[in-house]
Amino acid sequence: MNTVKTVRELRAAVARARNEGKQIGLVPTMGNLHSGHAALVTTAAQQADFVVASIFVNPLQFGANEDLDTYPRTLAADQEKLLQAGCHLLFAPTVEEMYPNGMNGLTRVTAAQLSNELCGSRRPGHFDGVTTVVSKLFNMVQPDLAIFGQKDYQQLAVIRAMVQELNMPVQIISEPTVRAEDGLALSSRNGYLSEEQRAIAPALYQHLKAMSEAIRAGERDYPKLVSQHLEHLQALGFRPDYLEVRHALTLLPAQPSDRDVVILIAAFLGNTRLIDNVHLNLDSGL
Ligand code: PAF
Repeated sequence: MNTVKTVRELRAAVARARNEGKQIGLVPTMGNLHSGHAALVTTAAQQADFVVASIFVNPLQFGANEDLDTYPRTLAADQEKLLQAGCHLLFAPTVEEMYPNGMNGLTRVTAAQLSNELCGSRRPGHFDGVTTVVSKLFNMVQPDLAIFGQKDYQQLAVIRAMVQELNMPVQIISEPTVRAEDGLALSSRNGYLSEEQRAIAPALYQHLKAMSEAIRAGERDYPKLVSQHLEHLQALGFRPDYLEVRHALTLLPAQPSDRDVVILIAAFLGNTRLIDNVHLNLDSGL
């Protein structure tokens, strides 16, 4: 696996693969890779002949008081994991390479309407930062397909909307959330948790599962269900940003008649913001 740092080298390597008739798969990441990222690469390697991963901690998607400076940067360990997972080329640009004209006054891709909801309303500008950098990566690599994790459910929906609405010729594939044995969704930010917080953190998923079981059993009073679980999570020490039952495709507040819903949560434990979701289709039993 080669690592390149410039767009010129990236384009040359991808062009060689394409000239050999290879299908190109892209896995965009911010590094500090875990088994969830490895699953993205493994799926990309199953669906494409040449897998490009990117590692770039994108300043454009971090708010002023967020963890841009402390976000873990672990390039050597990441390279090893990418190699093991079947990646062919790593693109690890600097901020200057990615944004040579700086970030002020930058041409941006404004994310879809649904980016103002949920995480978007708590992290203003976040999804514009994501869609801008993902569009740039799509333009640089011109992949046939790109893989994103379902843990970032809203991000996936925003990227799908961008690709559809801007007619981008790339297939978006989603990968199920990978969890620790105790249910906690794997995330680069889990490393911020103290031992005590790490022991509490799996409660997030336990509550999502309990809510999904209640819905499957017929509960349709979503505001009541949400407030019950919010209360329990707060008692455990979480500071929830939101806990919502939404329509799985539109992300609008779920109606009792909706059959395809997703329960989404974002909550702080100490200074660490955790997100998770459970998708349930009441017709298919998924
Ligand atoms: O999900 C992430 O790690 C990032 O938001 C992404 C898609 C790599 C864009 O920076």
